[in-house]
Amino acid sequence: KVLLLVNGPNLNRLGQRDRAVYGSETLSDIVRRVEAVAHRHGASVRAFQSNHEGAIIDFLQQEGPNADGLVINPGALGHYGYALRDCLADLCLPIVEVHISNVHKREPFRHQLVLSGVVTGQIVGLGAAGYELAAAYLLRQAMPEGE
Ligand code: DQA
Repeated sequence: KVLLLVNGPNLNRLGQRDRAVYGSETLSDIVRRVEAVAHRHGASVRAFQSNHEGAIIDFLQQEGPNADGLVINPGALGHYGYALRDCLADLCLPIVEVHISNVHKREPFRHQLVLSGVVTGQIVGLGAAGYELAAAYLLRQAMPEGE
């Protein structure tokens, strides 16, 4: 089984960027944590981060057909990324959208999540643990062994 882990704009700055909101873990810490969950389920992780919507779409178009699930933190693209939305709608994969912070407690522009209608579910506000929970869900529920 292959799990895709995609992070959008500015998430390469985790660990330095606004720690009060996003915590002190780096993106590599998070990738390692998700890999540990995947390995326990005999799955592997293809991790990708980009600050460019088009590069994320290129990655998903290429890797989506060979994958079994997707964990995506789209960063701010979650609020207005309609091209990314169309791309996710076109993927035949279970998808969990993760936001580290509780976007609904923050500025009004963060309350709109345009990917909602094309993802399986969302985890917001649980910090970096949200990624592991999303991966565990996909590996246990949405892509169980042998199916
Ligand atoms: C974020 C929330 C977004 O509003 C913001 O633009 C980010 C990070 C989060 O993980 O909480 O870049 O996706």
